[in-house]
Amino acid sequence: MADLTTDFLGIKSPNPFWLASAPPTDKEYNVRRAYEAGWGGVVWKTLGSEGPPVVNVNGPRYGAIYGADRRLLGLNNIELITDRPLQTNLEEITRVKKDYPDRALIVSLMVPCDEESWKAILPLVEETGADGIELNFGCPHGMAERGMGSAVGQVPEYIQMVTQWCKQYYSKPVIVKLTPNISDIRNPARAAFAGNADAVSLINTINSIISVDLDQMAPQPTLDGKGTHGGYCGPAVKPIALNMVAEIARDPETTGKPISAIGGVTTWRDAAEFMVMGAGNVQVCTAAMTYGFRVVEEMKAGLSQWMDEKGYTSTADFIGQAVPNVTDWKYLNLNYVSKAKIDQDACIKCGRCYAACEDTSHQAIWMKEDRVFEVNDAECVACNLCVEVCPVENCISMEAVTPGEVDPRTGKVVQGDYANWTTHPNNPSAVQAAE
Ligand SMILES: Cc1cc2nc3c(=O)[nH]c(=O)nc-3n(C[C@H](O)[C@H](O)[C@H](O)COP(=O)(O)O)c2cc1C
Ligand code: SF4
Ligand code: SF4
Repeated sequence: MADLTTDFLGIKSPNPFWLASAPPTDKEYNVRRAYEAGWGGVVWKTLGSEGPPVVNVNGPRYGAIYGADRRLLGLNNIELITDRPLQTNLEEITRVKKDYPDRALIVSLMVPCDEESWKAILPLVEETGADGIELNFGCPHGMAERGMGSAVGQVPEYIQMVTQWCKQYYSKPVIVKLTPNISDIRNPARAAFAGNADAVSLINTINSIISVDLDQMAPQPTLDGKGTHGGYCGPAVKPIALNMVAEIARDPETTGKPISAIGGVTTWRDAAEFMVMGAGNVQVCTAAMTYGFRVVEEMKAGLSQWMDEKGYTSTADFIGQAVPNVTDWKYLNLNYVSKAKIDQDACIKCGRCYAACEDTSHQAIWMKEDRVFEVNDAECVACNLCVEVCPVENCISMEAVTPGEVDPRTGKVVQGDYANWTTHPNNPSAVQAAE
Protein backbone atom coordinates (compact mmCIF):
# COMPACT_ATOMS: atom_id res chain seq x y z
CA MET A 1 0.00 0.00 0.00
CA ALA A 2 1.35 3.39 -1.00
CA ASP A 3 2.52 5.80 1.67
CA LEU A 4 -0.11 8.54 1.98
CA THR A 5 1.67 10.60 4.62
CA THR A 6 2.10 14.26 3.81
CA ASP A 7 4.28 17.01 5.11
CA PHE A 8 2.56 20.34 4.57
CA LEU A 9 4.55 23.29 5.93
CA GLY A 10 6.32 20.88 8.25
CA ILE A 11 2.96 19.70 9.59
CA LYS A 12 2.83 15.95 9.21
CA SER A 13 -0.41 14.06 8.68
CA PRO A 14 -1.03 10.39 7.90
CA ASN A 15 -2.87 11.28 4.69
CA PRO A 16 -3.58 14.41 2.62
CA PHE A 17 -7.30 14.50 3.51
CA TRP A 18 -8.14 17.31 5.92
CA LEU A 19 -11.60 18.45 6.92
CA ALA A 20 -12.19 22.08 5.98
CA SER A 21 -13.31 24.66 8.51
CA ALA A 22 -17.08 24.15 8.69
CA PRO A 23 -19.74 22.27 10.72
CA PRO A 24 -17.83 18.95 10.61
CA THR A 25 -15.02 20.59 12.62
CA ASP A 26 -16.95 22.85 14.96
CA LYS A 27 -16.48 20.95 18.23
CA GLU A 28 -14.40 18.40 20.09
CA TYR A 29 -17.04 15.69 19.72
CA ASN A 30 -16.89 15.95 15.93
CA VAL A 31 -13.16 16.33 15.55
CA ARG A 32 -12.36 13.32 17.72
CA ARG A 33 -14.71 11.15 15.67
CA ALA A 34 -13.27 12.56 12.44
CA TYR A 35 -9.77 11.54 13.50
CA GLU A 36 -11.03 8.11 14.55
CA ALA A 37 -12.64 7.75 11.11
CA GLY A 38 -9.23 8.38 9.58
CA TRP A 39 -9.01 12.03 8.56
CA GLY A 40 -5.42 13.22 8.37
CA GLY A 41 -6.18 16.67 9.72
CA VAL A 42 -8.84 19.24 10.43
CA VAL A 43 -9.18 22.98 10.18
CA TRP A 44 -11.31 23.93 13.17
CA LYS A 45 -14.50 25.89 12.48
CA THR A 46 -13.60 29.59 12.33
CA LEU A 47 -13.16 31.33 15.68
CA GLY A 48 -13.93 35.01 16.21
CA SER A 49 -12.84 37.53 18.85
CA GLU A 50 -13.61 37.22 22.53
CA GLY A 51 -17.02 38.63 23.39
CA PRO A 52 -20.66 37.85 22.82
CA PRO A 53 -20.81 34.82 20.48
CA VAL A 54 -22.00 35.16 16.91
CA VAL A 55 -25.74 34.64 16.35
CA ASN A 56 -26.93 32.30 13.61
CA VAL A 57 -30.41 32.22 12.08
CA ASN A 58 -32.94 29.85 13.64
CA GLY A 59 -34.34 28.67 10.34
CA PRO A 60 -33.05 26.87 7.28
CA ARG A 61 -29.46 27.76 6.50
CA TYR A 62 -28.88 25.42 3.55
CA GLY A 63 -30.13 25.11 -0.01
CA ALA A 64 -29.03 22.59 -2.66
CA ILE A 65 -29.11 21.61 -6.30
CA TYR A 66 -29.32 17.98 -7.33
CA GLY A 67 -28.58 15.70 -10.24
CA ALA A 68 -31.35 13.61 -11.79
CA ASP A 69 -30.80 10.89 -9.16
CA ARG A 70 -31.08 13.49 -6.33
CA ARG A 71 -27.38 13.24 -5.75
CA LEU A 72 -26.31 16.52 -4.17
CA LEU A 73 -24.24 18.53 -6.66
CA GLY A 74 -24.11 21.95 -5.04
CA LEU A 75 -24.72 23.19 -1.50
CA ASN A 76 -25.51 26.75 -0.46
CA ASN A 77 -25.24 28.01 3.11
CA ILE A 78 -25.81 31.17 5.14
CA GLU A 79 -24.08 29.94 8.28
CA LEU A 80 -21.65 32.28 10.09
CA ILE A 81 -18.43 31.47 11.95
CA THR A 82 -18.62 29.52 15.22
CA ASP A 83 -21.43 30.56 17.52
CA ARG A 84 -19.79 28.88 20.52
CA PRO A 85 -17.76 30.83 23.11
CA LEU A 86 -14.09 31.38 22.24
CA GLN A 87 -12.88 29.90 25.52
CA THR A 88 -14.84 26.69 25.00
CA ASN A 89 -13.32 26.23 21.55
CA LEU A 90 -9.79 26.95 22.80
CA GLU A 91 -10.08 24.43 25.62
CA GLU A 92 -11.42 21.77 23.28
CA ILE A 93 -8.68 22.42 20.72
CA THR A 94 -6.02 22.06 23.43
CA ARG A 95 -7.43 18.73 24.60
CA VAL A 96 -7.87 17.29 21.13
CA LYS A 97 -4.39 18.26 19.93
CA LYS A 98 -2.87 16.67 23.02
CA ASP A 99 -4.70 13.41 22.39
CA TYR A 100 -4.00 13.28 18.62
CA PRO A 101 -0.42 14.53 18.18
CA ASP A 102 -0.02 12.72 14.84
CA ARG A 103 -2.96 14.54 13.19
CA ALA A 104 -2.89 18.04 11.79
CA LEU A 105 -4.99 20.59 13.67
CA ILE A 106 -5.25 24.07 12.21
CA VAL A 107 -7.29 26.85 13.80
CA SER A 108 -9.31 29.04 11.47
CA LEU A 109 -9.63 32.68 12.51
CA MET A 110 -11.67 35.71 11.56
CA VAL A 111 -11.45 38.84 13.69
CA PRO A 112 -11.87 42.53 12.86
CA CYS A 113 -9.33 44.00 10.50
CA ASP A 114 -7.28 45.86 13.11
CA GLU A 115 -3.93 44.97 14.66
CA GLU A 116 -5.22 44.92 18.24
CA SER A 117 -7.82 42.24 17.50
CA TRP A 118 -5.22 39.94 15.92
CA LYS A 119 -2.67 40.67 18.62
CA ALA A 120 -5.25 39.68 21.22
CA ILE A 121 -6.32 36.33 19.79
CA LEU A 122 -3.06 34.95 18.41
CA PRO A 123 -1.34 34.21 21.77
CA LEU A 124 -4.48 32.37 22.92
CA VAL A 125 -4.34 30.16 19.83
CA GLU A 126 -0.60 29.64 20.25
CA GLU A 127 -1.24 28.28 23.76
CA THR A 128 -3.53 25.53 22.44
CA GLY A 129 -0.62 23.74 20.77
CA ALA A 130 -2.44 23.64 17.44
CA ASP A 131 -0.19 23.21 14.39
CA GLY A 132 -1.04 26.45 12.61
CA ILE A 133 -3.71 28.96 11.73
CA GLU A 134 -5.83 29.58 8.68
CA LEU A 135 -7.07 33.12 8.07
CA ASN A 136 -10.65 33.08 6.88
CA PHE A 137 -10.70 35.87 4.30
CA GLY A 138 -13.42 34.15 2.38
CA CYS A 139 -16.80 33.91 4.05
CA PRO A 140 -19.09 35.78 1.61
CA HIS A 141 -22.19 36.31 3.75
CA GLY A 142 -22.97 37.93 7.09
CA MET A 143 -19.40 38.51 8.24
CA ALA A 144 -18.51 40.41 5.05
CA GLU A 145 -21.23 42.94 5.93
CA ARG A 146 -19.27 43.53 9.15
CA GLY A 147 -16.00 44.21 7.29
CA MET A 148 -14.56 40.71 7.74
CA GLY A 149 -14.30 37.53 5.64
CA SER A 150 -14.45 38.21 1.94
CA ALA A 151 -14.57 41.96 2.61
CA VAL A 152 -10.88 41.57 3.56
CA GLY A 153 -10.15 38.87 0.99
CA GLN A 154 -11.19 41.16 -1.85
CA VAL A 155 -8.56 43.78 -1.01
CA PRO A 156 -5.01 42.48 -1.55
CA GLU A 157 -3.48 45.26 0.60
CA TYR A 158 -5.57 44.14 3.60
CA ILE A 159 -4.59 40.52 3.04
CA GLN A 160 -0.92 41.41 3.07
CA MET A 161 -1.30 43.62 6.14
CA VAL A 162 -3.20 41.07 8.25
CA THR A 163 -0.89 38.25 7.18
CA GLN A 164 2.09 40.32 8.33
CA TRP A 165 0.48 40.86 11.74
CA CYS A 166 -0.11 37.14 12.07
CA LYS A 167 3.48 36.34 11.16
CA GLN A 168 4.56 38.89 13.75
CA TYR A 169 2.39 37.67 16.64
CA TYR A 170 2.22 33.93 15.95
CA SER A 171 5.14 31.54 15.57
CA LYS A 172 3.63 28.63 13.62
CA PRO A 173 2.52 28.32 9.97
CA VAL A 174 0.00 30.83 8.65
CA ILE A 175 -2.31 29.67 5.87
CA VAL A 176 -4.37 32.33 4.08
CA LYS A 177 -7.76 31.08 2.88
CA LEU A 178 -8.82 32.90 -0.27
CA THR A 179 -12.21 33.94 -1.51
CA PRO A 180 -13.16 32.99 -5.08
CA ASN A 181 -15.41 36.07 -5.23
CA ILE A 182 -12.78 38.10 -7.04
CA SER A 183 -11.85 38.65 -10.68
CA ASP A 184 -8.23 37.43 -10.63
CA ILE A 185 -7.25 34.96 -7.91
CA ARG A 186 -3.56 35.61 -8.50
CA ASN A 187 -3.73 39.04 -6.86
CA PRO A 188 -4.85 37.93 -3.37
CA ALA A 189 -2.46 34.94 -3.56
CA ARG A 190 0.47 37.23 -4.38
CA ALA A 191 -0.57 39.54 -1.55
CA ALA A 192 -0.68 36.65 0.92
CA PHE A 193 2.82 35.54 0.02
CA ALA A 194 4.04 39.16 0.02
CA GLY A 195 2.83 39.23 3.64
CA ASN A 196 4.96 36.10 4.26
CA ALA A 197 2.10 33.61 4.39
CA ASP A 198 3.34 30.03 4.55
CA ALA A 199 0.57 28.80 2.25
CA VAL A 200 -2.72 29.70 0.67
CA SER A 201 -5.84 27.58 0.79
CA LEU A 202 -8.73 27.86 -1.64
CA ILE A 203 -11.53 28.11 -2.36
CA ASN A 204 -13.96 29.37 0.21
CA THR A 205 -17.59 29.45 -0.93
CA ILE A 206 -18.91 31.29 -3.98
CA ASN A 207 -21.56 34.02 -3.75
CA SER A 208 -24.82 32.53 -4.86
CA ILE A 209 -28.59 32.43 -4.78
CA ILE A 210 -29.25 28.75 -5.25
CA SER A 211 -32.94 28.87 -6.09
CA VAL A 212 -36.11 30.93 -5.70
CA ASP A 213 -39.30 29.83 -3.97
CA LEU A 214 -41.91 30.68 -6.60
CA ASP A 215 -44.78 30.67 -4.10
CA GLN A 216 -43.12 32.92 -1.54
CA MET A 217 -41.30 34.85 -4.29
CA ALA A 218 -38.10 34.77 -2.24
CA PRO A 219 -34.62 33.27 -2.47
CA GLN A 220 -34.06 29.90 -0.80
CA PRO A 221 -33.32 29.10 1.95
CA THR A 222 -36.27 31.31 2.93
CA LEU A 223 -36.75 32.66 6.44
CA ASP A 224 -40.01 34.31 7.26
CA GLY A 225 -40.52 35.29 3.64
CA LYS A 226 -37.01 36.59 2.95
CA GLY A 227 -33.76 35.09 1.73
CA THR A 228 -30.20 36.25 1.17
CA HIS A 229 -27.22 35.24 -0.91
CA GLY A 230 -25.12 32.45 0.52
CA GLY A 231 -21.90 30.53 -0.07
CA TYR A 232 -21.88 27.85 -2.75
CA CYS A 233 -19.76 24.69 -2.49
CA GLY A 234 -19.77 20.97 -3.27
CA PRO A 235 -19.00 19.01 -6.46
CA ALA A 236 -20.34 21.78 -8.70
CA VAL A 237 -17.60 24.22 -7.65
CA LYS A 238 -14.67 21.88 -8.25
CA PRO A 239 -13.87 23.13 -11.79
CA ILE A 240 -13.73 26.72 -10.53
CA ALA A 241 -11.47 25.75 -7.66
CA LEU A 242 -9.24 23.64 -9.91
CA ASN A 243 -8.71 26.55 -12.27
CA MET A 244 -7.90 28.92 -9.42
CA VAL A 245 -5.41 26.47 -7.92
CA ALA A 246 -3.80 26.05 -11.34
CA GLU A 247 -3.62 29.82 -11.86
CA ILE A 248 -1.66 30.23 -8.62
CA ALA A 249 0.48 27.15 -9.24
CA ARG A 250 1.63 28.42 -12.64
CA ASP A 251 1.90 32.11 -11.82
CA PRO A 252 5.65 32.91 -11.98
CA GLU A 253 5.26 35.02 -8.82
CA THR A 254 3.81 32.19 -6.73
CA THR A 255 4.74 28.96 -8.49
CA GLY A 256 5.97 26.26 -6.13
CA LYS A 257 4.38 27.94 -3.09
CA PRO A 258 2.34 25.62 -0.85
CA ILE A 259 -1.37 25.34 -1.64
CA SER A 260 -4.10 23.52 0.28
CA ALA A 261 -6.90 22.85 -2.22
CA ILE A 262 -10.59 23.06 -1.31
CA GLY A 263 -13.74 22.86 -3.39
CA GLY A 264 -15.89 19.90 -4.25
CA VAL A 265 -13.46 17.16 -3.26
CA THR A 266 -15.69 14.10 -3.06
CA THR A 267 -13.51 11.22 -4.27
CA TRP A 268 -9.84 10.21 -4.29
CA ARG A 269 -9.75 11.26 -7.91
CA ASP A 270 -10.77 14.84 -7.11
CA ALA A 271 -7.95 14.95 -4.58
CA ALA A 272 -5.42 13.53 -7.06
CA GLU A 273 -6.47 16.12 -9.65
CA PHE A 274 -5.94 19.00 -7.21
CA MET A 275 -2.62 17.57 -6.10
CA VAL A 276 -1.18 17.06 -9.58
CA MET A 277 -2.28 20.66 -10.13
CA GLY A 278 0.04 21.80 -7.37
CA ALA A 279 -1.82 21.29 -4.08
CA GLY A 280 0.11 19.74 -1.19
CA ASN A 281 -3.10 18.42 0.34
CA VAL A 282 -6.88 18.84 0.10
CA GLN A 283 -9.64 19.97 2.42
CA VAL A 284 -13.17 18.57 2.36
CA CYS A 285 -16.46 19.92 3.64
CA THR A 286 -19.55 19.12 1.56
CA ALA A 287 -18.64 15.46 0.94
CA ALA A 288 -18.36 14.89 4.70
CA MET A 289 -21.63 16.77 5.28
CA THR A 290 -23.36 14.65 2.63
CA TYR A 291 -21.93 11.19 3.32
CA GLY A 292 -20.50 11.39 6.86
CA PHE A 293 -16.94 11.07 8.13
CA ARG A 294 -16.42 7.57 6.75
CA VAL A 295 -16.26 8.90 3.21
CA VAL A 296 -12.54 9.33 3.89
CA GLU A 297 -12.06 5.56 3.77
CA GLU A 298 -12.84 5.44 0.06
CA MET A 299 -10.69 8.49 -0.54
CA LYS A 300 -7.68 6.90 1.15
CA ALA A 301 -8.16 3.48 -0.45
CA GLY A 302 -8.68 4.93 -3.91
CA LEU A 303 -5.69 7.25 -3.77
CA SER A 304 -3.48 4.50 -2.44
CA GLN A 305 -4.58 2.07 -5.17
CA TRP A 306 -4.01 4.66 -7.90
CA MET A 307 -0.54 5.41 -6.52
CA ASP A 308 0.32 1.70 -6.52
CA GLU A 309 -0.89 1.33 -10.10
CA LYS A 310 1.20 4.32 -11.20
CA GLY A 311 4.24 3.30 -9.16
CA TYR A 312 4.17 6.39 -6.95
CA THR A 313 5.59 5.61 -3.54
CA SER A 314 4.84 8.95 -1.93
CA THR A 315 2.49 11.88 -2.56
CA ALA A 316 5.54 14.02 -3.35
CA ASP A 317 5.99 11.90 -6.51
CA PHE A 318 2.92 13.38 -8.19
CA ILE A 319 2.23 16.74 -6.52
CA GLY A 320 2.44 19.45 -9.20
CA GLN A 321 3.07 17.05 -12.09
CA ALA A 322 0.32 18.53 -14.28
CA VAL A 323 1.27 22.18 -13.75
CA PRO A 324 3.70 22.39 -16.72
CA ASN A 325 0.90 21.14 -18.98
CA VAL A 326 -1.46 24.00 -18.14
CA THR A 327 -0.94 26.64 -20.78
CA ASP A 328 -2.63 29.58 -22.45
CA TRP A 329 -4.93 28.93 -25.41
CA LYS A 330 -2.50 30.65 -27.74
CA TYR A 331 0.10 27.94 -27.11
CA LEU A 332 -2.11 24.97 -27.99
CA ASN A 333 -0.89 22.97 -31.00
CA LEU A 334 -3.05 24.01 -33.97
CA ASN A 335 -1.43 21.32 -36.15
CA TYR A 336 -2.93 18.54 -34.02
CA VAL A 337 -5.97 17.02 -35.77
CA SER A 338 -8.37 14.39 -34.45
CA LYS A 339 -11.77 12.93 -35.40
CA ALA A 340 -14.62 11.40 -33.44
CA LYS A 341 -15.11 7.65 -33.77
CA ILE A 342 -18.19 5.72 -32.67
CA ASP A 343 -17.85 2.20 -31.29
CA GLN A 344 -20.80 0.49 -32.99
CA ASP A 345 -20.78 -2.41 -30.53
CA ALA A 346 -21.18 -0.07 -27.55
CA CYS A 347 -23.71 2.26 -29.18
CA ILE A 348 -27.30 1.98 -27.89
CA LYS A 349 -28.66 4.04 -30.83
CA CYS A 350 -30.13 6.78 -28.66
CA GLY A 351 -29.28 9.46 -31.22
CA ARG A 352 -28.10 12.09 -28.76
CA CYS A 353 -24.80 12.55 -30.56
CA TYR A 354 -26.64 13.05 -33.84
CA ALA A 355 -29.02 15.66 -32.41
CA ALA A 356 -26.19 17.55 -30.75
CA CYS A 357 -23.91 17.57 -33.76
CA GLU A 358 -26.67 18.22 -36.29
CA ASP A 359 -28.34 21.07 -34.39
CA THR A 360 -25.46 22.73 -32.58
CA SER A 361 -22.14 21.61 -33.98
CA HIS A 362 -20.90 20.72 -37.48
CA GLN A 363 -23.48 18.32 -38.99
CA ALA A 364 -20.82 15.63 -38.95
CA ILE A 365 -22.84 12.60 -37.84
CA TRP A 366 -24.87 10.55 -40.27
CA MET A 367 -27.97 8.69 -39.13
CA LYS A 368 -28.05 5.73 -41.50
CA GLU A 369 -30.53 2.91 -41.94
CA ASP A 370 -31.53 1.10 -38.72
CA ARG A 371 -30.28 4.06 -36.67
CA VAL A 372 -26.63 3.37 -37.32
CA PHE A 373 -24.71 6.52 -36.40
CA GLU A 374 -21.42 7.26 -38.13
CA VAL A 375 -19.05 10.21 -38.16
CA ASN A 376 -18.39 12.02 -41.41
CA ASP A 377 -14.68 12.88 -41.20
CA ALA A 378 -15.10 15.45 -43.94
CA GLU A 379 -17.17 17.63 -41.56
CA CYS A 380 -15.97 16.66 -38.07
CA VAL A 381 -13.99 19.41 -36.32
CA ALA A 382 -13.34 17.15 -33.32
CA CYS A 383 -15.18 19.45 -30.93
CA ASN A 384 -15.91 16.60 -28.47
CA LEU A 385 -19.58 17.56 -27.99
CA CYS A 386 -20.81 14.12 -29.06
CA VAL A 387 -18.46 12.49 -26.53
CA GLU A 388 -19.85 14.68 -23.78
CA VAL A 389 -23.53 14.03 -24.54
CA CYS A 390 -23.27 10.30 -25.25
CA PRO A 391 -24.75 8.35 -22.31
CA VAL A 392 -22.38 5.40 -22.86
CA GLU A 393 -18.90 6.02 -21.46
CA ASN A 394 -16.09 5.51 -24.01
CA CYS A 395 -18.58 4.78 -26.79
CA ILE A 396 -17.27 7.74 -28.75
CA SER A 397 -13.56 8.43 -28.71
CA MET A 398 -11.39 11.07 -30.30
CA GLU A 399 -8.69 9.61 -32.51
CA ALA A 400 -5.65 11.56 -33.68
CA VAL A 401 -5.06 11.73 -37.43
CA THR A 402 -1.55 10.50 -38.20
CA PRO A 403 0.77 13.23 -39.51
CA GLY A 404 1.23 12.83 -43.25
CA GLU A 405 -2.39 11.83 -43.82
CA VAL A 406 -4.85 14.21 -45.47
CA ASP A 407 -7.58 15.73 -43.27
CA PRO A 408 -10.71 15.19 -45.43
CA ARG A 409 -12.28 18.33 -43.89
CA THR A 410 -9.57 20.76 -44.93
CA GLY A 411 -7.96 18.76 -47.74
CA LYS A 412 -4.58 19.55 -46.15
CA VAL A 413 -1.84 17.14 -45.11
CA VAL A 414 -1.66 16.92 -41.30
CA GLN A 415 1.67 18.30 -40.10
CA GLY A 416 3.68 16.53 -37.41
CA ASP A 417 5.34 19.64 -36.04
CA TYR A 418 3.98 22.00 -33.40
CA ALA A 419 2.54 25.36 -34.42
CA ASN A 420 0.36 27.64 -32.35
CA TRP A 421 -1.63 30.85 -32.72
CA THR A 422 1.39 33.06 -32.07
CA THR A 423 2.85 31.90 -35.39
CA HIS A 424 -0.39 31.35 -37.32
CA PRO A 425 -0.70 33.26 -40.64
CA ASN A 426 -4.24 34.41 -39.71
CA ASN A 427 -2.95 36.13 -36.59
CA PRO A 428 -2.32 39.82 -37.39
CA SER A 429 0.18 40.04 -34.54
CA ALA A 430 2.09 37.04 -35.86
CA VAL A 431 2.29 38.64 -39.31
CA GLN A 432 3.58 41.85 -37.76
CA ALA A 433 6.15 39.93 -35.79
CA ALA A 434 7.35 38.18 -38.95
CA GLU A 435 7.64 41.52 -40.75
C1 LIG B 1 -22.18 25.17 6.30
C2 LIG B 1 -20.83 25.64 5.96
C3 LIG B 1 -20.13 26.40 6.87
C4 LIG B 1 -18.86 26.86 6.56
N1 LIG B 1 -18.18 27.56 7.49
C5 LIG B 1 -16.91 27.97 7.23
C6 LIG B 1 -16.15 28.63 8.22
O1 LIG B 1 -16.59 28.84 9.34
N2 LIG B 1 -14.91 29.02 7.89
C7 LIG B 1 -14.35 28.80 6.66
O2 LIG B 1 -13.19 29.16 6.43
N3 LIG B 1 -15.06 28.15 5.72
C8 LIG B 1 -16.31 27.74 5.96
N4 LIG B 1 -17.00 27.03 5.01
C9 LIG B 1 -16.38 26.80 3.70
C10 LIG B 1 -15.67 25.44 3.64
O3 LIG B 1 -14.61 25.37 4.56
C11 LIG B 1 -15.10 25.18 2.22
O4 LIG B 1 -14.17 26.19 1.92
C12 LIG B 1 -16.17 25.16 1.15
O5 LIG B 1 -17.33 24.53 1.63
C13 LIG B 1 -15.69 24.44 -0.11
O6 LIG B 1 -15.42 23.09 0.13
P1 LIG B 1 -16.45 21.89 -0.26
O7 LIG B 1 -16.82 22.08 -1.70
O8 LIG B 1 -15.70 20.63 0.05
O9 LIG B 1 -17.63 22.08 0.63
C14 LIG B 1 -18.28 26.56 5.30
C15 LIG B 1 -18.99 25.77 4.40
C16 LIG B 1 -20.25 25.30 4.72
C17 LIG B 1 -20.98 24.44 3.75
S1 SF4 C 1 -16.65 15.82 -32.49
FE1 SF4 C 1 -18.07 17.52 -32.80
S2 SF4 C 1 -18.11 17.82 -35.00
FE2 SF4 C 1 -17.22 15.80 -34.67
S3 SF4 C 1 -18.93 14.42 -34.76
FE3 SF4 C 1 -18.70 14.94 -32.62
S4 SF4 C 1 -20.07 16.70 -32.29
FE4 SF4 C 1 -19.79 16.46 -34.50
S1 SF4 D 1 -24.97 9.20 -28.25
FE1 SF4 D 1 -23.67 7.42 -28.04
S2 SF4 D 1 -25.04 5.74 -27.65
FE2 SF4 D 1 -26.28 7.42 -28.43
S3 SF4 D 1 -26.33 7.06 -30.66
FE3 SF4 D 1 -24.62 8.37 -30.28
S4 SF4 D 1 -22.88 7.02 -30.07
FE4 SF4 D 1 -24.70 5.79 -29.85
